[in-house]
Amino acid sequence: MVLASAGRRPNDWATQFISGTVAATACAARWSAAAASGPAGTGCCAGPPQPARVRTAAAPAAMTGKVVRDSIGAPYRPALGKDGGVATLRSVNVGLPKDVLWRGRSVHTGIWKSPVDGAAMVRRLNVDGDGQGDLGGHGGEQRAVFVYQLDSYRYWREFLGRDDFSYGQFGENFTVDGLADDEVRIGDRYRIGAALFEVTQPRVTCYRVGIRMDDPRMPALLVRHRRPGFYFRVLEEGAVRAGDEIVKVADGPEAMTVAEVDALLYLPGHPRDRIERALRIPALSPGWQGSFRAMLAQPEAASGNAGLVEAEPAPAWAGFRPLRVTAVDEESSTIASVRLADPGGTPVAPALPGQFLTVRLKPGLVRSYSLSGGPGDAEYRISVKREPHGLASGYLHTHVRPGDVIDVAAPRGTFVLRPGTAPVLLVSGGVGATPVLAMLHALADEKSGREVWWVQAARNGAERPFATEVSGLLAALPNARSYVAFSRPGPEDRLGGDFDGAGRLSATVLGGLGLPGGVEAYLCGPSSFLGDVSAALAGIGVPAGRIHTEIFGSRPGLTPGIGATPTRAPHLPEGEPGTGPAVSFVRSDLTVPWPGSAASLLELAEACDVPVRWSCRVGVCHNCETGLLSGDVEYTTEPVDPPAEGNVLICSSRPRSAVVLDL
Ligand SMILES: Cc1cc2nc3c(=O)[nH]c(=O)nc-3n(C[C@H](O)[C@H](O)[C@H](O)COP(=O)(O)OP(=O)(O)OC[C@H]3O[C@@H](n4cnc5c(N)ncnc54)[C@H](O)[C@@H]3O)c2cc1C
Ligand code: FES
Repeated sequence: MVLASAGRRPNDWATQFISGTVAATACAARWSAAAASGPAGTGCCAGPPQPARVRTAAAPAAMTGKVVRDSIGAPYRPALGKDGGVATLRSVNVGLPKDVLWRGRSVHTGIWKSPVDGAAMVRRLNVDGDGQGDLGGHGGEQRAVFVYQLDSYRYWREFLGRDDFSYGQFGENFTVDGLADDEVRIGDRYRIGAALFEVTQPRVTCYRVGIRMDDPRMPALLVRHRRPGFYFRVLEEGAVRAGDEIVKVADGPEAMTVAEVDALLYLPGHPRDRIERALRIPALSPGWQGSFRAMLAQPEAASGNAGLVEAEPAPAWAGFRPLRVTAVDEESSTIASVRLADPGGTPVAPALPGQFLTVRLKPGLVRSYSLSGGPGDAEYRISVKREPHGLASGYLHTHVRPGDVIDVAAPRGTFVLRPGTAPVLLVSGGVGATPVLAMLHALADEKSGREVWWVQAARNGAERPFATEVSGLLAALPNARSYVAFSRPGPEDRLGGDFDGAGRLSATVLGGLGLPGGVEAYLCGPSSFLGDVSAALAGIGVPAGRIHTEIFGSRPGLTPGIGATPTRAPHLPEGEPGTGPAVSFVRSDLTVPWPGSAASLLELAEACDVPVRWSCRVGVCHNCETGLLSGDVEYTTEPVDPPAEGNVLICSSRPRSAVVLDL
């Protein structure tokens, strides 16, 4: 069992998957999930086809009917190369998505596949009669046909001690004899029947393979044991049938196997030269290319796996530490700024422009606030809008005075200004101006030559914060422009002086600004504002990847394949209250004693209807990676690759002490 705490990374990670300790653990009925990868198509590799038969082990002796029984009880032996057989398509399997009941919830999945009798037509997006339940994680041009090997069937039968597999068991369309993951290269091309295929990427494992296999460890096992299987793109449509020979017609460039590319993303290590090499393979799907590019761009200071989640530097300190209030300043009729400094007079640790910190005002009253000052300032500044009946904002506005001491967790967050030369668009609504103001400070501090657009929405002049400060910062920038919109201008507000337009920020308004091409947009404000402005920017051609948003509350959940459930505000779990350490979900403002019955922090969050993100549920995909603001956890299943320092994979951990989570 591996321990982790806020700001301290678990140790001894690298050895865990090699030691294969998972094999010894029982199937402890806890499930997991994953996503990733890319839907759109890439160009084909050029070059004349060069037919070459793929050598493989002899066909299994007793593969009859639908149940695979050829090597039950026989010692495991590698499939390739020894017996000189020809690789063959052993079964074509299809299935349409259906709803299955899983832990009281309805899961929409196409992982149940059954063999086709006779010929099956393979088309650009699917084998006829086949479908995927979740097109975000599966299917599409790059993942049209999933391939799994009989050799891996034998391996898992022996490893798992099972004899109940049938064709399509791993959700594959093609069950093949030969084409091992450690031999097939990304970009290889194969002729099967009348169709031509190209290998695009390894499988992206998710919890549904665990459901299908009746073993929740499966998504992690497939990765740890380097037997993921892979996807084909269909270069030429045509009919295939069980028994067809598989003929290799072209070698993938760079000689990188499916097993190696899979390990490069998911397993510890990530050597740069191999990542660069993988990126030179045109056939590699755009989703995997994006992940590898993110890994290469990961700053030195950042830990964790940037191919799976956005990277951020390790927090400057673990847990909460006391900071002294040095000033409380009014910024508008509803917003006040609080400055926080080290009690010993040392400058505070620098933050990235756009990051937030978390304050504990009294036990159980914990909130996060974006930093609104300059990222290199000697003190932190937060700016808080007083909400009607709001506990923390009311406390900060009415109780907090210079000289007070407040517990503060280190700056965090991935909503940060990216370096570069691209034009920058900073858009805010109301108090959402705080993180983008920090970005404006950073740009002004470095006297950036970038084109900078400041677009601010507020109700009126009385409620617009930072007007004078923003003017000064914009004046320090050579290429800055601004647009201020008031939804309900007051009688004192002057059009053309205090504001530039009345009403909301619409697509028409944004389109009329003449924004430059290639702009990187940073948005913060109420969720309806974020939705409207994002749609407006998309409408004028800003790509989704260049629109970055910050939410002052819970992030949207990610629960792939789960049918819609009525949304309920976060609440205490049903049943007897727990007696374990306190678990605080800060964004949901909920603290719950740990109940012994919960298998993981993820399960507890789900029992409380706290919005969560997950996909594999067993430590592979990192979708559940969450900031551990304070406290210690222990892992019940070792993560395949560790999360970033100061973060935790909630799907496979539970608290060892009181924990505070950025959830
Ligand atoms: C990453 C991040 C950054 C943030 N940055 C900022 C920032 O820079 N500035 C900022 O001001 N906020 C920011 N927030 C929001 C902040 O964390 C708090 O959520 C906010 O201050 C409200 O907290 P509260 O305790 O005052 O309100 P709560 O007591 O939590 O109440 C939440 C809402 O419910 C309403 N409410 C509460 N009780 C009642 C009742 N009895 N009847 C009717 N309505 C009620 C309140 O009006 C309020 O709108 C940020 C949040 C996050 C997650
Ligand atoms: S859900 Fe995949 S790592 Fe936690």
